[in-house]
Amino acid sequence: MSDKPSYLGLLNAIAVAEGQAGRYLTAWADTTDDEQVREVLRFVALREAEHGLAFEKRVVELGYSLRPGDETELQYKMELAQSDRSDREKFEAFGIGQPIDGNDVFTNMFANPDLDPVTGGLLGRYIAEERDSGRRLNACCEALSKPRRSRAKGTTSKTANKKKTTAKPAAKKSAATAPPSGARGGRARQPAARRP
Ligand SMILES: [Fe+2]
Repeated sequence: MSDKPSYLGLLNAIAVAEGQAGRYLTAWADTTDDEQVREVLRFVALREAEHGLAFEKRVVELGYSLRPGDETELQYKMELAQSDRSDREKFEAFGIGQPIDGNDVFTNMFANPDLDPVTGGLLGRYIAEERDSGRRLNACCEALSKPRRSRAKGTTSKTANKKKTTAKPAAKKSAATAPPSGARGGRARQPAARRP
């Protein structure tokens, strides 16, 4: 019987998704003209990037190495983040900024009874921060629909010379609000939430 942690794939998937989210949210923050949107995005992007490193560190601590994720989806999200779409359009396209219906996607992460204490502690902090980031993004998106405060130049991004992204359905839920629940890209193939 393998002694590989049954939740290794989940840790890998979170590390990859969070690291990628840190990159495309930073790219979006660098593009927007809206100071309040930029402030929220940079804060959330910092958290995402730190989560990516923290979970990669945990994978290494457990004796494994990070298995890189698919860069195709990241490339699309980077193009979307840097496009001249408005911030409202980007919130919609990324599928973030609105309360999520149904079950909290993080709940099942603690369903695995094999979780070691260190990983459990990391997951707890991660989940609390992800929920807080979701609230901040929701409030930021909601504020865009109200008569404005002291926004610099409206809600559009300033990159008029940057190419528009081609039409595509909304991106998968941001890691900030809907993290991976499985082992996509992970070395282990069993998500932690699906214990026998
Ligand atoms: Fe996230």
